[in-house]
Amino acid sequence: MKKIEQQITLSYTFPVIFTWNVFDPANPALADVLRLGGARNRALLVIDSEVARLSPGLLRQIECFCQQHRPLLELVAPPLPMTGGELCKNAATVAQVHALIARHRLCRHSFVIAVGGGALLDAVGYAAATAHRGVRLLRLPTTVLAQNDAGVGVKNGINACGRKNFLGTFAPPFAVINDFALLATLADRDQRAGIAEAVKVALIRDRAFFDFLEAQRLPLAHFAPAVMEWMIIRCAGLHLQHIREGGDPFEQGAFRPLDFGHWSAHKLEDLTAGQLRHGEAVAIGIALDCLYARQQELIDAGELARIFSLLEDFGFSLGHPALAYLDPEEALADFREHLGGDLSIPLLRGIGDKIEVHAIDLPAMQRCITELLAAGREEGHAHARTGARTADGGRTA
Ligand SMILES: NC(=O)c1ccc[n+]([C@@H]2O[C@H](COP(=O)([O-])OP(=O)(O)OC[C@H]3O[C@@H](n4cnc5c(N)ncnc54)[C@H](O)[C@@H]3O)[C@@H](O)[C@H]2O)c1
Ligand SMILES: [Zn+2]
Repeated sequence: MKKIEQQITLSYTFPVIFTWNVFDPANPALADVLRLGGARNRALLVIDSEVARLSPGLLRQIECFCQQHRPLLELVAPPLPMTGGELCKNAATVAQVHALIARHRLCRHSFVIAVGGGALLDAVGYAAATAHRGVRLLRLPTTVLAQNDAGVGVKNGINACGRKNFLGTFAPPFAVINDFALLATLADRDQRAGIAEAVKVALIRDRAFFDFLEAQRLPLAHFAPAVMEWMIIRCAGLHLQHIREGGDPFEQGAFRPLDFGHWSAHKLEDLTAGQLRHGEAVAIGIALDCLYARQQELIDAGELARIFSLLEDFGFSLGHPALAYLDPEEALADFREHLGGDLSIPLLRGIGDKIEVHAIDLPAMQRCITELLAAGREEGHAHARTGARTADGGRTA
């Protein structure tokens, strides 16, 4: 027998920049990033059509930016508006981007610039990662959730074979530029959805951040820009720190702390055919796993009450009717299969502290689902916040 032990060590560096008005020709952020790619850069720019529609001056601003920065940035075609949201995560979107990459003869040193929410970034990112085995991807996230979570990491994907994110790759971007000005047109529900990922990462990683979210609950509930921006930077920072220092950036092992609350969230997104936003589903998933952690006596009643109260104060509806169709056995099996290896579910052991568990008591989880659903029905009858609080109080007494 002969054996050659092959070991490859790779190192990736990519900047995640926070700025305002990225396409203002006076803003150096984008030009600085492009210079890292060379003095001449050919690029295809794909933009979430809602962003293009709601910021009518933006396309013109992009055109001016390119004129002023030629040949640093040469768009091979006019910006391509593409419908965003969960339904764009499909093979047709990917084929459309692939066709343009081929038609305009982009190469691995060219850029795909994706401007949009997490869904569009996932789909266009997957297309960029698979054309020529990887064209440089520059992400410009336009939702709170994409800026603090979905757009800053190393994954992409589309839905296929009836499964969320069934096709996808691990592919670090060339750079990420978070332009806070792009959030101005975002609907309230999409402002709110992104806060769920901040609650998630605070709960598993950073008690002080949770205290901050609690203390700033009112301005955050009204999406006050300064506090939202601070929240985005801190949340993205914790997310990036985990990828950088967690020891498993490409998720080869079984632990997945950033997927706290996500086993049910992904299924709820499926069950509602994308009607429920990712962040809205994550808020429900967090609530469910916290109820379960309380049942398993991992957290105390006071901690559970704080978490529910915070999520409700942000305006999340935690007892969504789709919970009635959530089969925990099936959802956990799908989650385990997607992640590989043995089941590993992050659960709280306190605020800012989590453990991984490898088995879930299904009847107990089912009781938690029923309880959350019942609280949601009560909420539907009573004044939203009072009703949910009463249910929570009853539960935690
Ligand atoms: N790759 C990852 O690591 C990762 C992590 C978390 C979530 N995700 C994925 O991200 C997706 C959710 O992303 P999302 O929450 O950003 O929502 P989204 O991309 O689905 O966008 C929500 C809606 O907002 C619109 N929109 C986007 N930007 C806008 C703006 N500035 N103004 C007005 N409207 C705007 C979109 O067109 C869409 O209708 C899910 O598919 C989820 O699976 C990926
Ligand atoms: Zn998420």
